[in-house]
Amino acid sequence: MAPDEAAQARERLDTVAAAIAVGGIDAMTLAASDWAMSPPRLAALAQRHELPILAANLVCDGRAPYPASTVVTRGGHTVGIVGVTDGPVSGCEVGDPAASLQAAIGALPPVDAVIALVPLPERQLSRVLSEVQGITVAFDATGTRQGDIADRIGNTWVVGSGMKGATLGTTTLAFREPGGAWAPEGYELHLTQELERARRRVDVITERLENDRAAGKDVSRNEKLLASSRTELADLEAAVAKPAHGGNLITTAHIKLDDTVGEHAATQAIVGGTLTKEQAAAPAVTQKVPHKTLGGGTPYAGSDRCKVCHVDIGAQWEGTAHARAWQTLVDDDHAADVACFSCHSTGAGQPGGPQNPAQVRGLRDVQCEACHGPGLTHVARPKDSPLPVPKPDQAACSGCHESERAMGRFDYATYLPQVMHKATGTRDIP
Ligand code: HEC
Ligand code: HEC
Ligand code: HEC
Ligand code: HEC
Repeated sequence: MAPDEAAQARERLDTVAAAIAVGGIDAMTLAASDWAMSPPRLAALAQRHELPILAANLVCDGRAPYPASTVVTRGGHTVGIVGVTDGPVSGCEVGDPAASLQAAIGALPPVDAVIALVPLPERQLSRVLSEVQGITVAFDATGTRQGDIADRIGNTWVVGSGMKGATLGTTTLAFREPGGAWAPEGYELHLTQELERARRRVDVITERLENDRAAGKDVSRNEKLLASSRTELADLEAAVAKPAHGGNLITTAHIKLDDTVGEHAATQAIVGGTLTKEQAAAPAVTQKVPHKTLGGGTPYAGSDRCKVCHVDIGAQWEGTAHARAWQTLVDDDHAADVACFSCHSTGAGQPGGPQNPAQVRGLRDVQCEACHGPGLTHVARPKDSPLPVPKPDQAACSGCHESERAMGRFDYATYLPQVMHKATGTRDIP
């Protein structure tokens, strides 16, 4: 059975929803991209997993499907949480987020702080937050805010919520002075440093501009740079002039979700269950398939065929990480995952190459043809038909290695020697 992308996507959504729910959260919001799913299906998912979605500005069929706010108590302090969504949402009306947030805040019982979940693009976020009053901290859910100090829009402090599973934004509210003002910890120092940096930048650009002008060079680019740096400087000077003393402290940190962060057992169990189910539903992906058994009509030969003539190179390739790339996915329970197979196999997505994990069969691993291109005609008549890429260069690696998945480790100069064939030419052919 071929792993079907749509079915896997549905299964994944349930997995994600279950994992969110097991984390025990109090509130969440939906961004525009979440509405790729129809509102009824999303509502069913939310109900199944009891997701605490807030959407103050959403109206479907004349009623609000999700509450506008919730109130939680922590350490003796009550915190009101309000949230909006971003549209369009098919069949529903998405109201003005600023007006909806203000109304939701107005409807809260007396609370010690107000948190707003605002998943809007930056420009809209700025407009909304400069209009709405009464928010202690707003969460920007777009992943663009990665700083460890909250920044201010209007009278509201804004923090980032992390990015794509790579970082987790955390914010702590320390109640020190009941009813008092709020400010980020270390804010003044941070601003002073930023101001210094901005001043230096203006100086450097000014100097460069004058030199270029004296030398008769085109200065239009530097003029633009100077203008934007001056605006940045003016904004910072205005921020410094605006006092940000607060008895109550906002502390923000972005945690890098790498190997140093342990697995959450309950979440791991949910994810593991889904992956095992997927692999079991697609047995072809884990069974050992000889390279010879490629289907008809493919331009790929499989490395077993290449190794018959290129003996030494074949043996050298067997010793590289590329020859184990598929086993890595099998061991990781990800061999049936449509999001993983492409770089751990050969010719994925190419004409005559595998289009999904079950079609990988003989083209598992990063074989010869992943770098050299399809070689069936070369196998038949080596002298008359050179490989499409006889001498691969960096471009042959980048599709797989210069992506987010490759974790930024790739360095061509150090990576190439590790996979380079020691044998040269075709002397290795018996
Ligand atoms: C039947 C034997 C045979 C098989 C099978 C074979 N090759 Fe070759 N290959 C040769 C010979 C012979 C040459 C040298 C051709 C020449 O000098 O014109 C060659 C040359 C090459 C070159 C160098 C081309 C160049 O211009 O420098 C590459 C790369 C290559 N083969 C890769 C492969 C790959 C990949 C496969 C499997 C898809 C493969 N070969 C299968 C015999 C073979
Ligand atoms: C089709 C995708 C693909 C292409 C093309 C590709 N690689 Fe890789 N490469 C991988 C994968 C996947 C792994 C991880 C294999 C594993 O450990 O399971 C890997 C691993 C490696 C490693 C081992 C890294 C380590 O930390 O052990 C090196 C070195 C490497 N590749 C170099 C290259 C170079 C150089 C090129 C281009 C000439 C290249 N690769 C082309 C997918 C690719
Ligand atoms: C865009 C290409 C690409 C995709 C898609 C991809 N990988 Fe990889 N993967 C790589 C490359 C390249 C490496 C080698 C990275 C290195 O060591 O430099 C790698 C290495 C790995 C490793 C080796 C262990 C490690 O962390 O060094 C594991 C495990 C892995 N991938 C799992 C996965 C899983 C699971 C998926 C799907 C969720 C996936 N990969 C999707 C390119 C990809
Ligand atoms: C990770 C990418 C990659 C893989 C996989 C790969 N090659 Fe290559 N191959 C290269 C690069 C890069 C060169 C160019 C070397 C150079 O410029 O001298 C090359 C060159 C060659 C040559 C020409 C030899 C020479 O020294 O001029 C042959 C033949 C060849 N490869 C065969 C193979 C065979 C057979 C396999 C599989 C068993 C294979 N390659 C797998 C990247 C790869």
